[in-house]
Amino acid sequence: MSEIAYVNGRYVLTSDAMVNIEDRGYQFSDGVYEVIAVANHSLVDLDPHLERLDRSLSNLNIEWPCSERVLRIILAQLLKRNRLKDGIVYLQVTRGVAPRNHAFPTAIIPSSLVISVSRAGRPSRDKFIEGVKVVTTPENRWGRPDIKSVSLLPNVLAKQFAVHNGAFETWFVDDHGAVTEGSSTNAWIVLSGQEIVTRPLGNDILAGITRMKLIELARAGNMRITERPFSLDEAMNAEEAFITSTTAFVMPVVEIDENVVGTGKPGPVTQNLLALYEDHFSQGDEK
Ligand code: PDD
Repeated sequence: MSEIAYVNGRYVLTSDAMVNIEDRGYQFSDGVYEVIAVANHSLVDLDPHLERLDRSLSNLNIEWPCSERVLRIILAQLLKRNRLKDGIVYLQVTRGVAPRNHAFPTAIIPSSLVISVSRAGRPSRDKFIEGVKVVTTPENRWGRPDIKSVSLLPNVLAKQFAVHNGAFETWFVDDHGAVTEGSSTNAWIVLSGQEIVTRPLGNDILAGITRMKLIELARAGNMRITERPFSLDEAMNAEEAFITSTTAFVMPVVEIDENVVGTGKPGPVTQNLLALYEDHFSQGDEK
């Protein structure tokens, strides 16, 4: 069954949806995106996703394709038209359509808005029960991974490196030997004394919405979170490790570059955080 997508003002069958070949997103990756989860007919954490979209757009001087109020209406319409109960929404805004030229178009053109939905489920239960493997690669992305740009080639290659090595994710490691983040997830470790460590926000990582929510939930539950860079060495010797994202939730990591983490099984802190997050997730927040 083909889903319904939204493309520049029209609701169309995803199989029939088309974009102009001179869209700057297609030619230059000149655009940004968001991936928002849907749980029980509700968009999860829509407000922070729209705030991050606004930051990405303004960092690149791309105009909003419509007002935020209208965007919320379109999203609600799309969920309704697709009768989407659980899944994800992919939203992409590009600088628009113009004759190919690296510099921004001089004429005022509307930015392009494309939104599609997917019913793809979350990772299988056994991954949460058994945990997953992570491999590593030197950080090789541009200096602004905090902007959620559709220019994802290094991330694509890093994820393929994971697949090639039988792993779930690849962590990027910076020049100081510290882990920045995964190809599509934020990275975390748990040290003795149940201290939960994740890299602080900056230009070098994406401000994950799952990361932000988990910090809120963990602090509300009196758990100890430290936002500081951690080295690959520390991660390998940590008691627990995990990754977070809209699609991976709180996924336990039990092996890093073939080194077993902790007991080799998902640890109690990670399991506790997963339960906290699942509880938050299932409530959704927008009707
Ligand atoms: N990826 N870091 C990177 C590089 C990401 O691409 C993502 C999200 C995250 C986690 O962000 P969030 O918690 O807001 O999902 C961190 C999305 C899911 C994707 O590209 O499919």
